[in-house]
Amino acid sequence: MRVFFRLQNVFMLRDTSTMSDEQTIAVYNDKVNDYREMTKELKEGEALEQFMAAIPTKGLVLDLGCGPGNSSALLQKFGFSVDPVDASTEMVNIANAHFPIDARLATFDDINASEHYDGVWANFSLLHAERQEFSTILTFIFAAIKSGGALHLGMKTGEGAHRDELGRFYTFYTRSELTHCLESVGFQILSTRTGADKGLAGTVDPWVTILSRKPL
Ligand SMILES: C[S@@+](CC[C@H](N)C(=O)[O-])C[C@H]1O[C@@H](n2cnc3c(N)ncnc32)[C@H](O)[C@@H]1O
Repeated sequence: MRVFFRLQNVFMLRDTSTMSDEQTIAVYNDKVNDYREMTKELKEGEALEQFMAAIPTKGLVLDLGCGPGNSSALLQKFGFSVDPVDASTEMVNIANAHFPIDARLATFDDINASEHYDGVWANFSLLHAERQEFSTILTFIFAAIKSGGALHLGMKTGEGAHRDELGRFYTFYTRSELTHCLESVGFQILSTRTGADKGLAGTVDPWVTILSRKPL
């Protein structure tokens, strides 16, 4: 489907044919309990603290690809309003079963708000988007954030794209590719963090988180 949307008073044509990988979503539906078990410790961590400090108290946050809802639960605990969305029905169900956060089923394609959110928390979800869709999704996110609002982006780093052992599709980027993509759509980089952690597939993978701001 093609729709028009407005970005900084310019009307643009948007192709909303699917940006979701069905096999990836099926894996998350299937492994929802394993994923929750792996991530069930509720702890804010430095990235969430920096994100919360970058947006207004009680601001509205889109938790894009919210998974089991931990980040939304923490944001809510600290007084923020949350809009947690995920493409996996089972993730939405488990999030709502454990937290009163009103998670809902939605995909990257569904971001069509304009100057609506104080922040977008996209923690290790956009790594499942195809490379050719990434800048378009960032453009939708940019439009959805209020001027002065912030975006947290968590991604695994590397090169190319492939499925992991579980069948999840990943696109990998270097840190500089990601900062370039963000700056190209208009975000200003505030800070970056890097590390490596073991994920659901059992491999230890390097990651980067980037906090950026939509200029006033
Ligand atoms: C690695 S998990 C991250 C979950 C959560 N953000 C966290 O930090 O624990 C990736 C999440 O992205 C969701 N996802 C994958 N493709 C998506 C899409 N096209 N639209 C929305 N969510 C998607 C998956 O269902 C999964 O819950």
